[in-house]
This record gives sequence, structure tokens and C-alpha cells, in this order.
Amino acid sequence: MAERGGSGAAGAAATADRGAEGMGSVKRTRVVILDFGSQYTHLIARRIRECGVYSEVLRFDAASAEIAESTGAIVLSGGPSSIYDEDAPKPDPAIYDLGVPVLGICYGMQAMSEALGGKVARGTTREYGPMGFSPEGEHRLFDGLAESNQVWMSHGDEVVAPPDGFEVLGRSADGKIASIGSDERKLYGLQFHPEVVHTERGKRLLENYVHGIAGIPSNWSPESFVEEAIEAIRAEVGDSTVVCALSGGVDSSVMSVLIHRAIGDRLVPIFVDNGVLRKNEEHDVIGRLAGGLGLKVDKVDARERFLTKLAGVEDPERKRKIIGTEFIRVFEEEANRIGGVEYLAQGTLYPDVIESVSVKGPSATIKSHHNVGGLPERMHLKLIEPLKTLFKDEVRKVGAELGIDPDILGRHPFPGPGLAVRILGEVTAERVALLQEADAIAIEEIRNAGLYDDIWQAFVVLLPVKTVGVMGDERTYEHVVAVRAVHSLDGMTAHWFPMPHEVLERMSARIINEVRGVNRVCYDISSKPPSTIEWE
Ligand code: XMP
Repeated sequence: MAERGGSGAAGAAATADRGAEGMGSVKRTRVVILDFGSQYTHLIARRIRECGVYSEVLRFDAASAEIAESTGAIVLSGGPSSIYDEDAPKPDPAIYDLGVPVLGICYGMQAMSEALGGKVARGTTREYGPMGFSPEGEHRLFDGLAESNQVWMSHGDEVVAPPDGFEVLGRSADGKIASIGSDERKLYGLQFHPEVVHTERGKRLLENYVHGIAGIPSNWSPESFVEEAIEAIRAEVGDSTVVCALSGGVDSSVMSVLIHRAIGDRLVPIFVDNGVLRKNEEHDVIGRLAGGLGLKVDKVDARERFLTKLAGVEDPERKRKIIGTEFIRVFEEEANRIGGVEYLAQGTLYPDVIESVSVKGPSATIKSHHNVGGLPERMHLKLIEPLKTLFKDEVRKVGAELGIDPDILGRHPFPGPGLAVRILGEVTAERVALLQEADAIAIEEIRNAGLYDDIWQAFVVLLPVKTVGVMGDERTYEHVVAVRAVHSLDGMTAHWFPMPHEVLERMSARIINEVRGVNRVCYDISSKPPSTIEWE
């Protein structure tokens, strides 16, 4: 299975039979991306996987021996530094002699040039944004590209003289060196970013590099991941019992079904109803996973317990803390009750792993909801993280391959503290019930209008104010709710969704008519920043 073409990359051929980490017993040639801190590093990894080639991101200073492991090609990412900075990140120089092709992108090209004796200068003008790029002569790196291509640049420094043995392979519209290469050593550089969508034929260029120059065949896909992951899980956990928290979100659903495929009912997914879930959560998600896919879900009704702890609490951070702490308690008690548990499965995804190898050092911001707060150490549980090599969209594809309902895979994100941070002020059972109804109506109308998949996240918020209204001949004094819907890529920034007026009208009419206690509906037209997506 360890295929690699790789014309002349002798060093890589020698290592290609060893398994890449995370791929279980199946061996596969990978592309290693060294991260110099570019905001696009994860995009390089994704684009290469879209070429059907498994890719992994390592820290810029990984040792060449680690880099060479099962590696058919290397990419040096861009980054915000100048190679003239005192603490400029530099790769292990031995990577250039591994015999494995190396492609330096932007800062990566400058670092390569500098290491091999080329000349890098501080640019007289910055090239930023769209630029023309023209290959010089014929080169297979640029097969399928046009004579002039729009590419995305973002750099101050520039290579003014390539290292000995390198040729200039292309120039920008203003005549600057934009690509260099040595076919003999299989070392290449691009001053622009082929991984971003603004670069025309960027994907083709990456294909030319990984298939054409490095000779790595297409043999990885999220679908092929399933088989390998199942083998790997079986090999790792043997006859042990595994627990995981099943929230109904995409990650925990896919992870549970995947582990269940591997070890059957030795996986016990624990679903905790904390009293602040959406309407019909248990029925909509857990019912389908259990009914359709055979998971034996351990359901814990802890509604009263959570609501008792939340009584009288108005501060959002305290709500979050209470819910987090109580969740761990309930989960731990349940795991103890099940008994004989040796493993805890977590839905860590690849972006968290990349973050932890970042130039800026291991990040403290790895999302806490992936981590069932310190339980592994306290209960002496071993961890398995079967999705940790995947990006979110790959998790969805894996889920589809596993036969999970598209409705579950396409669900909007839902925060761990649930409706508690959408009920401004105190959380009570009555308020939860009211918000669940209003939220379900808004989502139903969004679905009916065919807009659910166009929206990143939509929900209703219950405000802590009452307003005057009139119903029939009677004056009312009741709650206000706000509908929120946003476009976003990753939740870090967001833009309010331009909801069609007729959808707003139906939502408003139905919420006010059908939800007792609400007499006013607003639509939130704030973006992030300066607002946040949630209201608390
Ligand atoms: P904000 O409100 O910070 O939300 O713009 C960004 C994304 O994060 C979700 N979110 C949370 N998720 N625990 C979670 O698991 C939390 O405490 C939490 N707070 C916000 C939010 O729903 C949005 O998708």
C-alpha cells in the first residue's frame, strides 16, 4: 500500500514504508508542511488533502529525521516574519538534502533562498493582494497555468538573486522574481500563495507539485480514512471499554459512530440532558443515532440537578462554570457507575492539533469543550482522539460515509452551556421551555425557507425585559426575544445574515402567536466584531 512514485527522491523512498502517525497500520506517503506562522498554513494542508494526498503540519523547527518519516514532499509555509528578524524561524537545514522535494511558499521561499546562499532583500515596495504571475519558459510545476495568472501575494521581503543552481521560473507583473527552482535538487519556491482561492489555478499548481514533481499518487480521502481509523481504534483499545460524551454535535456524533463501528457496544456514549438543550434534542439526534445506527446511548437525565445549581445565577461566566463543573461531576459518576472503563474518547480535530504546534508555541486556547475537564487524569483514563487528523469538513464526509443522517452532519454549532447563555439573566425551567419553543419555530421557518444550510448559526435569545403589547382588546406585558442568524467561516468573525423579510414576518407572527409569554420579536443586525455571536 505504501505507494510513492517520486522520481529521484531517494531519501523518501527509503522511508516510505513506515507508517505516518495517526494512520494506524496502513502506510501512506504524506506531505509535511512546516508551519512558519502563516494564517494560510491549514489551507495548504487542506488543499493537498483535496489532491488525495495525506498531509500533516509540523512545527517549523521539527528535526529532519522526524520530517522525513514516510514523507514524499515538504512544503514550507509563509509567515509574518522577515528572515532578517533576530528570532526569525528557520527550518533544519538538513531538509534540503533529504532528497525529498521541497516547495517554499512566500516566507518559506525566502528562508530556503537564504539558507542556500541566495540573496533576499527588504522589498522597496510591498506586493499585497492580487498580482499577475507569468511562468518563464516551460516548467511542469506550471502545467495547465496560463501565460499570465492572477495570484495572491502578501510580502515585503523578496528574493533578488536565487541560490546557485536555481533558475528563475516566473515573475510577477512588475518583473520581480516570483518563482525559483532547482530540478536537480527538486527544490522550488513561490512568492505567492497557491493555497488561497484568489490564486487562479493554485490547486492545479499544488497538484503538479505533489503528483507531478513528488510523484505521490492520490490515495487518501475522508472515506478511506474510515477503514484505517477502525483498524487503528481496534488495535489501540483491544478489549477495553470506552466512554465518550455524546452532545449531538457533529464531532461527537461522528466520533461515536466511528468507534461503535470498531468495537460495538464496548463504546458507551454518555448523553447528559443538562436542562438547557434545544427542543427535542434527545429525540432528534440521539434517537436517530441509536435507532438508525444501533448505538446504545447511555442517557442521563440531569435537568433538575443543573437547573438547581443555576437558580438565581445571572452572570454568564458563572453560568458557564457551573455547567462545566456539573457536567464533569455527572459524567464521572456515570463512568464510575458503568465500571471497568479504561478509555475516554474525545472529538479533538486537526485545527486544535495545528494550533498546538504553532510558531507561537503550544496554545492555551485549545477549546475546553473538547476536553472533559481533567477527567482522564483524575480517573486514570487513557485518551483516544480518533478524529484528530481531520478538518471539520472532512469529519462531515467521514460521517456521510458512516451513514449518518445529513441533517445531523449539517447542524449549526451549539455552545456547551447551551440555552443558559441565550437566556439573559436567571435560567429557570419556565424560561428554558419558552426559549425552546421560540427557537424551534425560528429554525423550522429557516428550514422551510431552504436557508438552513446557507446560515452558519441561527438561534433565538430570550431578553430580560418585558414590553407592552396588545392582543385582542387586552394590554399585555410580556417577554421580548431576539432572533440571531449569522454568516461565518469559523465563528471568529461573523456577519449578520440578511434574512428575507417574509421569513422574518412568518417567524415573528408564529412566535408571538404560538409561544405564550412573548409579545415582541427583534432581529439582531450586529456583526462580529464588535458584537459576539452569542449574547452572553
Ligand atoms: P461568540 O459568542 O464568542 O461565539 O462570538 C463564537 C462561537 O462559539 C460558540 N460559543 C461557545 N461554545 N462553549 C462552547 O462550546 C461556550 O462557552 C461558548 N460560547 C460561545 C458560539 O455558539 C459560536 O459558535
